Amino acid sequence: MSTDKIRIFDTTLRDGEQSPGCSMNLGEKIRMARQLEFLGVDIIEAGFPIASDGDFQAVRAISEACETATVAGLCRTTELDIARAAEALKKAKRSRIHTFVATSDIHLEYKLQKTRKEVIEMTRHAVRLAKNHADEVEFSAEDATRSDVEFVCEVFETAVAEGATILNVPDTVGYTLPGEYANLIRTVKERVVGDRDVTISVHCHNDLGLAVANSLAAVEAGARQVECTVNGIGERAGNASLEELVMALVVRADKMPYEHNIETTQIYPTSQLLSSIISFGVQPNKAIVGRNAFAHEAGIHQHGVLSNPLCYEIMTPQSVGVPSNHIVLGKHSGRHALVARYNELGYELSPEEVALVYPRFTALADKKKNVYDQDLLAILPAPWPTLMAA
Ligand code: KIV
Ligand code: ZN
Repeated sequence: MSTDKIRIFDTTLRDGEQSPGCSMNLGEKIRMARQLEFLGVDIIEAGFPIASDGDFQAVRAISEACETATVAGLCRTTELDIARAAEALKKAKRSRIHTFVATSDIHLEYKLQKTRKEVIEMTRHAVRLAKNHADEVEFSAEDATRSDVEFVCEVFETAVAEGATILNVPDTVGYTLPGEYANLIRTVKERVVGDRDVTISVHCHNDLGLAVANSLAAVEAGARQVECTVNGIGERAGNASLEELVMALVVRADKMPYEHNIETTQIYPTSQLLSSIISFGVQPNKAIVGRNAFAHEAGIHQHGVLSNPLCYEIMTPQSVGVPSNHIVLGKHSGRHALVARYNELGYELSPEEVALVYPRFTALADKKKNVYDQDLLAILPAPWPTLMAA
């Protein structure tokens, strides 16, 4: 693998889905997975198979449905967890078992009631077992950023010795700072990875609003997989937001010249699709995908943008797939305008699909003052229309 390629590991359907207001049913998860592949993510963490029958079914169905992305299933270190993940991933074209155990003293004492020696043994046993049941194994040291670094390195060394090829360094509680996290990544790289073919992964929570900054600092220090979610959903304050991470890499390629597989024009449609499925959207001033992300109200700004958008825009709305036309869709809009907007959102509708969706649209427009893009995605009939290449 090129060392300058960043792999995007999307955990919208696992870490994201397990947070309040974000649950999805099976059909919604499959639809989201299909869109994530279209967006170009490298790995889709589809769920935590032992957690519930719903999660198991979702990982199984997404494993079958995915064509290009690796599908990952999360598990603790127990045999039962690993067996359930292995079973759910059976049909994946490329499967990954993601096993984790906490390494911080606080988790060992109060949550696991295990000694460090026991955690080493749990790691050894889990990775050895998982290695027989998936194409690759990722190991996570939960709460790594509040753990003794010597111990984290020892646990990681054990995981690599048993065959894990991805080592994830989660900032589980969103506690770390960019410089500190970069140092931790450098330490893991020097002391554990060396010149072995092992990828360092990062997984940052946003409790201090630093998830993206920490992830980028880690990339500069040598991490080559970034775990993130669409719209930054996830436990508590969420995970690192995929759209912010990717666009930071794109816009600041002068400082961070890394390759990735993301089709950036699918960012906005993916964000809107997620908002249409879960119970909340993004705040208007959310970077990249918020309603105001490309809006200019102040006179000086408007004048600048009209003279040259570069005065106040560091990326174009088109580059992230924000529709460029300003036609407002409402109850007087016709089929042509509706179809054009769907095209801009990346969907090609057949005449039959238009016939189905148009009455739904007019009924909605009768009830709602503003029909947003996420509303349009919510009323598309299943199985959903063809996605168009950008
Ligand atoms: O935040 C975390 O530590 C996690 C792990 C399971 C990777 O989500
Ligand atoms: Zn997490």
